[in-house]
Amino acid sequence: MSQPKLTGISSVALHAAGQDNSEHAHITPIYATSTFTFDTAEEGAERFAGADKTRIYSRWGNPTFTAAERTIEALEAFNIENADGSPLKLKALLHSSGQAAMTTLFLSNLQTGDTVLSHYSLYGGTYELLHKVLADNGIKVIIADLRDLNLVEETLKKNKIKLVHIETPANPTIQCVDIEAVTKLAKLQNILVSVDNTFATPYLQQPFKYGVDFVFHSTTKFLNGHGTAIGGVLIGKDNEHMRTKVWKWHVLLGSNSNAFDAFLLSNGLKTLELRMDRHCSNAMKVAEYLQQHQNVEKVNYVGLESHPDFATAKKQMKLPGSLMSFELKGGLEEGKKFINALQLCVSATSLGTVDTLISHPASTSHMSVAKEERLKFGITDGLIRLSVGIENIEDIIYDLEQALNSL
Ligand SMILES: Cc1ncc(COP(=O)(O)O)c(C=O)c1O
Repeated sequence: MSQPKLTGISSVALHAAGQDNSEHAHITPIYATSTFTFDTAEEGAERFAGADKTRIYSRWGNPTFTAAERTIEALEAFNIENADGSPLKLKALLHSSGQAAMTTLFLSNLQTGDTVLSHYSLYGGTYELLHKVLADNGIKVIIADLRDLNLVEETLKKNKIKLVHIETPANPTIQCVDIEAVTKLAKLQNILVSVDNTFATPYLQQPFKYGVDFVFHSTTKFLNGHGTAIGGVLIGKDNEHMRTKVWKWHVLLGSNSNAFDAFLLSNGLKTLELRMDRHCSNAMKVAEYLQQHQNVEKVNYVGLESHPDFATAKKQMKLPGSLMSFELKGGLEEGKKFINALQLCVSATSLGTVDTLISHPASTSHMSVAKEERLKFGITDGLIRLSVGIENIEDIIYDLEQALNSL
């Protein structure tokens, strides 16, 4: 069957992977097998020598992973052309977690003596990976405010940087970095650029439009969307590099996904556009509601003009996303009291699921970080992070209101 015309993101999410199984199963099966058989010695040798390593041993690849990888490649490349007008082709590698995909990204592209430049508001695991694991292996890390383009230019000139790693919107402050501007500066010196696109998803933001080299996702979040599996994906535009060096590190680090999680991810991807539209419209209404409440000091949502990165988000994101944080008047005790009063919003440490998740970093994820240290990153005692779900908006607001009014 020839490839159908796919002009919208939902059509891509539903059809890009195609149907590739001998039993004509409508949905890509869960290939729960560690290895694949060869009819003859010659066939075994051929598959080992070939470019497609997905039917040898599941640490090397598996058709259920391939279906999810193809969909993600198509979503990230959607409507993007190379300089010669040909469609952009990407290569994705599914991993056991976001952390595993990040480890492959860094270890397969950096070596002792190299320097990475990144932003100060980063997911905690990325921050620790850079500062503990990479630093211990002789890879230097420079952290700067990547929203300050003069500072970026100066830092790139003064230091020999190998990779600029951007996370936008960033966890947990929801700050946004201008991908196009930073990439332009980096490319003047042939520096690699990677973008953590977890909060935005390819529906809201496509970093490859701006010439970046790698895009990363914790698929645990919006791509899966239902909170059913931990996973990560690394996507690169240099297909040859992805198939050789990056694949080699991925395989040798043993960071492969598994067929069941890949199946759950493929299922989640099918409704990405529908979910994200609803996440974003609910989030905007929640942000507007919170902003006018007497017990709320401040709302950080890139859809609000009051957010310092409103213009950057508007430029590079289709919609402002589902994530926000807000500061309650009062401190740690008010934060705990508010969380305990909620009845619908779920108190949990993750984000990007169909239901609304809420967390109070000062009493949970950042409990062991010294107060002075977390204040530097804007994590105050009363800061609450909210991943707005797709419930009926009236019910989300009713729950927030009754909890806020109990303070
Ligand atoms: C922005 C971001 N990047 C990376 C990760 C790490 O992903 P995982 O938990 O799937 O390993 C997370 C997890 O919360 C995240 O929010």
